[in-house]
Amino acid sequence: MKRLLALPVATLLTLTLAVPSSAATAGAPGAGDPYFPTQGNGGYDALHYDLALDYNPSSDALLGVATMNARATEELSRFNLDLVDDLTVRSVTVQGAAAAFSQSGTELVVTPATALPNGQAFTVVVRYDGKPTHVVDPDGSRDGWIRTSDGVYNANEPQGAMTWYPGNHHMTDKATYRFTVTVPDTRVAVANGDLTSRSSGGGRTTYVWDAREPMASYLTTVSIGKFHLKDEKVGNFRVITAVDPKLADKATAFAQRHAPVLDYFSGLFGPYPFSSTGGIIDHEPNVGYALETQTRPIYPVVPSERLLAHELAHQWFGNSVTPARWQDIWLNEGFATYGEWLWQEKTGTRTVQASFDAAYATPADDAFWQTPTADPGGPENLFHDPVYDRGAMTLHVLREAVGDTAFFAILKAWATEHRYGNADTAAFIALAERVSGRQLDALFDAWLFKPGKPAL
Ligand code: ARG
Ligand code: ZN
Repeated sequence: MKRLLALPVATLLTLTLAVPSSAATAGAPGAGDPYFPTQGNGGYDALHYDLALDYNPSSDALLGVATMNARATEELSRFNLDLVDDLTVRSVTVQGAAAAFSQSGTELVVTPATALPNGQAFTVVVRYDGKPTHVVDPDGSRDGWIRTSDGVYNANEPQGAMTWYPGNHHMTDKATYRFTVTVPDTRVAVANGDLTSRSSGGGRTTYVWDAREPMASYLTTVSIGKFHLKDEKVGNFRVITAVDPKLADKATAFAQRHAPVLDYFSGLFGPYPFSSTGGIIDHEPNVGYALETQTRPIYPVVPSERLLAHELAHQWFGNSVTPARWQDIWLNEGFATYGEWLWQEKTGTRTVQASFDAAYATPADDAFWQTPTADPGGPENLFHDPVYDRGAMTLHVLREAVGDTAFFAILKAWATEHRYGNADTAAFIALAERVSGRQLDALFDAWLFKPGKPAL
């Protein structure tokens, strides 16, 4: 813990004057998620982040100025941001006035000179620098600022965002973003949303990316490397792709492949929720996973049709409609897996029924059936097979029970009613019952909440 600025004694007095009726409180250090108790923070709602980042891959030096616009949701004497203490905070201002701060583990604690009244809109500016590193997740995978030979593979689910910028890093606090990223001219910086400007000078290039639709912080990315960058109109979509030069001959085909998948899903799930799409292929096969980063998934290899469909289905399920806590992760992965099954059927590769049958064939005594789909038991199981395959099977069983018309009405209503928001498993069940007019407790109990292989 480094206390870098002493809290002026006068602050206590100001506090008392500003909040005469009740003592202002400290914002909670976590959002209350059982899987990641210190992730996110209480007491305020982040609305917009303006992240100005300067990164030099050869020295691995990151210089950041993070501006967060937020609104207090209680009277705040102090509040937290999530940021790993490998990065050093140099100064913090709140409403333009210097604020006291300290760093402890993954918490940056900020004490404004004057307490913030409940409901107050406020701006925090954090200046920081250092050599960013990734974190290792409970399942052993790397997440965050993952160094590559020429830059960074930046994938942040479930907890990597705190490795490169301070924020309210729980999925329930969505915000809009601007990324202003400066890198050497030999590198490209790719983020979420729309590329709105690019300017060079003194051997460095600054890329500005605007993500205008609300985004959970685990879906942000600033990927840096030697990329072949293309910004083009393909069918109905603005497709922005960044492809590793080793794979440059695949770039045109990769961009073209997005439109048919997105057109098909738009017909099933409702309009594509974002202003642009595309993808980043950073040839780093040892990262081991792709991620559905909002508007622009990141892939360690050229994606198969199945993987492309998975990450694009997430744009509706996971990104636009986001779970409320990590144990609801089947709402992301089960739906995206069902998206794969649908796309495979559409393209004549395999029927949805055949995909279901293959997964259902897993023997009843296999560990696959032992943890409930809607609570995989802990953060180490977030991305294990039952979440994906049993999640998708749950949707298929629902479809068989209510019929195609009601089933696709349910998916569309889910995407529409919770667009840009958060919703949990209970909300999905309630919606499925409302839209279908059916009582579905037995089905969801067997498929989501109980261990064991359900009978058909
Ligand atoms: N949501 C990603 C996908 O299904 C997987 C992310 C895995 N992340 C991890 N830290 N293991 O495409
Ligand atoms: Zn997924």
